[in-house]
Amino acid sequence: MKEKKEYLLPNQNEARKRSLTQVDSEYDMFSLSSLPSIGNGKKYYIRTYGCQANVRDGETMAGMLDCMGFVTTDKEEEADVLIFNTCAVRQAAEERVFGEIGAVKKYKNQDENKIIVMCGCMPQEEVVVERILKHYPQVDLVFGTHNIYRFPELLRQVMEEKKRVIEVYSEEGRVIENLPVRRSTSAKAFVNIMYGCNKFCTYCIVPYTRGKERSRKIEDIVQEVNELKEKGYQEVILLGQNVNAYGKDLGMEDGFTDLLIACAKTDIPRIRFYTSHPRDYSVSTIEAMKNYPNIMKSLHLPVQSGNTEVLKRMNRGYTREMYLDLFDDMKKRIPEITFTTDLIVGFPNETEEQFLDTLSLVDHCQYDMAYSFVYSPRSGTPAANMEDNVSAEVKKERLQRLNEKLAYYANLNNQKYLGKTLKVLCEGASKKNKQVYTGYSEENKLVNFTGPSGLENKIVEVEITAVHSFSLDGKALS
Ligand code: SAH
Ligand code: SF4
Ligand code: F3S
Repeated sequence: MKEKKEYLLPNQNEARKRSLTQVDSEYDMFSLSSLPSIGNGKKYYIRTYGCQANVRDGETMAGMLDCMGFVTTDKEEEADVLIFNTCAVRQAAEERVFGEIGAVKKYKNQDENKIIVMCGCMPQEEVVVERILKHYPQVDLVFGTHNIYRFPELLRQVMEEKKRVIEVYSEEGRVIENLPVRRSTSAKAFVNIMYGCNKFCTYCIVPYTRGKERSRKIEDIVQEVNELKEKGYQEVILLGQNVNAYGKDLGMEDGFTDLLIACAKTDIPRIRFYTSHPRDYSVSTIEAMKNYPNIMKSLHLPVQSGNTEVLKRMNRGYTREMYLDLFDDMKKRIPEITFTTDLIVGFPNETEEQFLDTLSLVDHCQYDMAYSFVYSPRSGTPAANMEDNVSAEVKKERLQRLNEKLAYYANLNNQKYLGKTLKVLCEGASKKNKQVYTGYSEENKLVNFTGPSGLENKIVEVEITAVHSFSLDGKALS
């Protein structure tokens, strides 16, 4: 393979810039008719890591590959194009990807025409692309989150011109409509409502990998929801790094509430959204959740830490008290609401007292479920330059103590469902046991249940017969 020196490399300083210019949606950046038909007789496999934004991007790439004549395979060893759709949020996840890219070199040794692609958030980091250039010659194509629309052309260059292609944009980002999609599930669908993040929490790489906050037009989103409903989808999951900021860039005053209401009025049976930011929450959003039965009453509300000083150093923009006031207000307005959250332990110089504040906040909020992480320094973010006097052992031990508490409340919350009947959206057979269906209840509980055939993609009444910390068992009521 020819080495070309015309690579376009990432630049995190550029990625940090934010302008006030409004981003207009682009409707004809992508044309199906000009797609290279390079996929006939060839197979692809996409390995996606990270958040739902990446899952949705993977669906776009799958849609493009389908249009080029490729077919999907679930055996990566037989794929002609093997894609690593990566996440940069923590170092451990990145190391896993590097390990796996190292491991697939064997395929390349067996068949030099096999194409290995790295895309997603990792290529947006300078250190990652430098490492690929130095140590991973098996990777043929690298592109980032901003130029997915260029994927077919970049792949064509690799396949036909036999060159290694690295093209990463470090721009603020665009809004590109009308890209193809192959959805990964038929019961529920991800719908992007906005891209990027302007929050710049000091620990987080996402604002650098995804560009600035830019919203899709409300009419485009509602049209997508309507189309999904017509196709028989029962649930839409509205996606954005910070959904409560939806529409601000378009000059909308209370854009997220307007959008939620417009989506609710389509009468799609279920609407969820990820991720909420406590800083931008408006009372009208809570009222909309309360007033429309098809907006699910389960909320992911990341808190990160229970200590005001740590929150300040994280640049989260709220105090412990502000978070708890919001939490309590929501519980008061919508008593049946359930909460999940994200937590980071071992932020630089976190003291034992500050950590205990996180534990006591968990005691107050009694989350149904939480994702908990040890802080991971990300190159180019402000926190990575903070001095840190907390040892790895202490961080690990704090994570353990936190996880014990989280598991206790997860289990406690689940106990109350024993013997109750929940409405579960059936997603099909469980991966672990084909005799059993799996799906999520309105409360966002994972439910494994038995029942007659033909329940896929239906909302089913399920009686709960056993509870565990992270799932429920039940049987469909016929
Ligand atoms: N936009 C969302 C989620 C972003 S990433 C939000 O604001 O909540 C998902 C989660 O990863 C974050 O909520 C945070 O808990 C965690 N995370 C992000 N950066 C991290 C880091 N450097 N180390 C450890 N956890 C991190
Ligand atoms: Fe990261 Fe904070 Fe933006 Fe979430 S809000 S993506 S944690 S910078
Ligand atoms: Fe990871 Fe990128 Fe999502 S860093 S969490 S895949 S936005």
